[in-house]
Amino acid sequence: MHYLFEQLTKGIRFTGDVPTDVRALFLKWGLSHTSEHCMRVSKEASQLARRFSINVGEALAAGLLHDISNIVPRSEMVALAEALKLDVLPEERDFPAILHQRLSAEMARDIFQIDNRSILSAIGCHTTLKKGALSLDKVVFLADKIQWDQPSTAPLRDAIRIALDKSLDTAVLCYLNYLWERRSDLAVIHPWMREAREELLTIEKDKYSGVIQLCNT
Ligand SMILES: [Fe+2]
Ligand SMILES: [Fe+2]
Repeated sequence: MHYLFEQLTKGIRFTGDVPTDVRALFLKWGLSHTSEHCMRVSKEASQLARRFSINVGEALAAGLLHDISNIVPRSEMVALAEALKLDVLPEERDFPAILHQRLSAEMARDIFQIDNRSILSAIGCHTTLKKGALSLDKVVFLADKIQWDQPSTAPLRDAIRIALDKSLDTAVLCYLNYLWERRSDLAVIHPWMREAREELLTIEKDKYSGVIQLCNT
């Protein structure tokens, strides 16, 4: 294990049971709120996985682990990413919090011994998504937004659920368009998010334009 991760997990006795160990990690750092969020995202992702016929176990694991790097202070995220030899993008340097998706994937791999590439991919793009995203990436991305526990996002949650009745891609595009319409208010426009939206628009625009409007209200 990387020595920085050893420091972050010092004193924790890992059991091998991911939910138990995730709870222990968040408890150590006083992040019970994030712990509960991860449990809810895991459950939501597993339900979406079942609905869209993808691997439920992978969805459960990715949901549990998606925010584990929130134990790292935002002010230290760039330094940690560099210590792990990640190629930090300019947008991530400007707004380090967005690096937490990639840092969580690194921690899942090194601390929790996750070597499943689908799980690591879904954790690593759960905030922005990315071009060429697979179904598991999309499921975890949406589960995180549905279980985002800010009251202001409740209407959007309803819109995502309606769009999900159409398809997974419709719901993803619905949310990405919502972000795009508000891009002037965003701290940063991550290139992965822009590329994911452009790719889906190319494929889905005509087919789903009516439903996509739901998220722009
Ligand atoms: Fe997150
Ligand atoms: Fe999250």
